[in-house]
Amino acid sequence: MTTPVRISRVTIPEITARKGGTPLVCLTAYAAPMAALLDKHVDLLLVGDSLGMVLYGLDSTIGVTLEMMIAHGAAVVRGTQHACVIVDLPFGSYQESPEQAFRNAARVMIETGASGVKLEGGSAMAPTIRFLVERGIPVCGHVGLMPQSVHTAGGFRATGRSEEDAARVIADAQAVAEAGAFAVVIEGTVAKVAERATEAIAVPTIGIGASAACDGQILVTDDVLGLFGAFRPRFVRRYAELSTTIGEAVANYAADVQARRFPAPEHTFGMKSGARSQQ
Ligand code: KIV
Repeated sequence: MTTPVRISRVTIPEITARKGGTPLVCLTAYAAPMAALLDKHVDLLLVGDSLGMVLYGLDSTIGVTLEMMIAHGAAVVRGTQHACVIVDLPFGSYQESPEQAFRNAARVMIETGASGVKLEGGSAMAPTIRFLVERGIPVCGHVGLMPQSVHTAGGFRATGRSEEDAARVIADAQAVAEAGAFAVVIEGTVAKVAERATEAIAVPTIGIGASAACDGQILVTDDVLGLFGAFRPRFVRRYAELSTTIGEAVANYAADVQARRFPAPEHTFGMKSGARSQQ
């Protein structure tokens, strides 16, 4: 007899049903302990390929592998019970063909237990999104600034600044939504353009550096908590300065070790009563 799967997390249909409602609260997570802290506060946790820059010190997301995404995705799923967990497909794992995308997306779903995947790309990726969705893989789209195209774009540049580019971003969002994406991330896009894209599609938009008019917001957790100092995008609002707290804690630890204040008696082991120490 097979045991039925009980889904207690926020589901993909519940995410889609939030179109036009209370904004979706989304953050990135890469590891189980942090994911556990975030879990009850968010609707969706994204295991973003931003982990290449935030955790691995890479210059871009290009060097991130499927194996990295699977290892971190599985950790985030293990650490959570409530949030819908989505895992990014990394560069090179889905662009070649719909079949390649299906193979790798299926691996991600099977090996992590995540509820779906996210991939970057507008109209050009619509046939791939349709192929995945028709085969049971929920897909979140990602349009506007697409970090995996950093070399094509010549840098991490805001999109939608000209009428032509604005029309492209909106058409991309429409193509991805019509292909069956359950939600669409809009990154680094002129606020008015993100607003128009949100009005133009039937599924939620999740903004990052976009507009409060989007149906939800996502940020990189390490940016929100002040843990990632390499650079600070202008669209980030810091809610804590944990780098400072960590620096102070570690400086205190170092001072205690050097002054032999640590370990104190309560941190050390004694022998069982009656036992004699060996000379
Ligand atoms: O990789 C990532 O973390 C992302 C979000 C910032 C949207 O794609």
